[in-house]
Amino acid sequence: MTSNEPWARTERLELRRWAPEHLAELRALAVLPEIVRYVGDGRPWSESTVTTRHREVLEHWRRQGFGWLAAHDGTGAFVGLVAVTRRSGEDSGIGVPAVEVGYWVVPGAWGRGYGTEATGAVVAEVFARGHADLLVARYDPANTASGRLLAKLSFTPHHVVDGERPLAYTVLARPDR
Ligand SMILES: CC(C)(COP(=O)(O)OP(=O)(O)OC[C@H]1O[C@@H](n2cnc3c(N)ncnc32)[C@H](O)[C@@H]1OP(=O)(O)O)[C@@H](O)C(=O)NCCC(=O)NCCS
Repeated sequence: MTSNEPWARTERLELRRWAPEHLAELRALAVLPEIVRYVGDGRPWSESTVTTRHREVLEHWRRQGFGWLAAHDGTGAFVGLVAVTRRSGEDSGIGVPAVEVGYWVVPGAWGRGYGTEATGAVVAEVFARGHADLLVARYDPANTASGRLLAKLSFTPHHVVDGERPLAYTVLARPDR
């Protein structure tokens, strides 16, 4: 599959395999305070974090045959990403292997349903292609939009890790299991 063929589609969006040319989009988003506010330590990513993560994402695709997707609208404009990462039982946060899902939408496009639409399509495709029986997503409970998005996609609460930056874990099992 070339990077130009969409891996998933919705009415408004095309989702493509993360590719070397997406480094610029990742860099542009990862330095925005409103994007990283609830991600990791909440600080904009350094250039080395951006390039390291980008390399890891390309490597994940090579090893696993699936991974992060870049979302573009009907005009071809980049509108965000869906982060899809295989996790072992040790690093999933829920004690069993799972595929973790995350999502970033460019701030100018928030509130139009893109986050839910893109993530929903990717979730359906990950299950349909047999890449996972269980998905996990973690979010800061203060991140209302993220919590709503997950609830709309039928993710259910698993547990919450309290702390300076609390993290709510949610899960979604493959529907036919
Ligand atoms: C989380 C994020 C992806 C949502 O993207 P989006 O395209 O705006 O989401 P949607 O339009 O699909 O909306 C999802 C729900 O969140 C709500 N929502 C959107 N923006 C919101 C905001 N600023 N405050 C509260 N709720 C909000 C929507 O109203 C919708 O809920 P509803 O159907 O009950 O009304 C986007 O805000 C983002 O990129 N945030 C920064 C990165 C991030 O925090 N990612 C998640 C890390 S866990």
